[in-house]
Amino acid sequence: MKKIAVFASGSGSNFQAIAVAAQAGILSAEISLLVCDKPGAFAVDRADMLGIPVLVISPKSYPSKAAYEEEILQKLISLDVEMIVLAGYMRLIGPTLLEAYEGKIVNIHPSLLPAFPGKDAIGQALAAGIETTGVTIHYVDEGMDTGPIIASASVRVEAGETRESLQKKIQRIEHSLYPEVLEKLLNGEGEVLQWERSVH
Ligand code: GRF
Repeated sequence: MKKIAVFASGSGSNFQAIAVAAQAGILSAEISLLVCDKPGAFAVDRADMLGIPVLVISPKSYPSKAAYEEEILQKLISLDVEMIVLAGYMRLIGPTLLEAYEGKIVNIHPSLLPAFPGKDAIGQALAAGIETTGVTIHYVDEGMDTGPIIASASVRVEAGETRESLQKKIQRIEHSLYPEVLEKLLNGEGEVLQWERSVH
């Protein structure tokens, strides 16, 4: 069974969806670790409830980003982690982890990239007044939400849509799409994964 570490900074609902899929056998992987850079984040409570080990680690306690990531890397190596899954991890991945896990780090972003990268993608989409937004899963490189796209799903922005209603629709898709895409990646189907889906 391949071992995955999930990185999260906030609520951790995607982390939970992935962990539940793994525990149910829908995703053939072991979620070996949650890495959380925000002490007190709800993701940590979810990990405790699911019985998944957690590394809570604050960058402020390290002299540099490289030192912070080196500490994480040593933990990942000690657990034989093969893949890093970012799920609401609010930090750019630096060279230390990128080089060690080249081509093995993925992220989920709540827009149809390359539209609306960075923070508050849902707010950006609403402000732009577009009719369709969505979710993108992509490989991670040194940029902000810029790596090669693996999969995307589109979501219609209805008239009168609020931030809350749109976020709810997007998250519902994320929670099913992310485990499904990870399963395909683990089965070596990453190359043929350039697929799209529409959800209304
Ligand atoms: C998700 O919407 C994801 O697309 C973005 O951050 C959010 C994390 O939500 N990168 P959660 O912490 O998984 O609930």
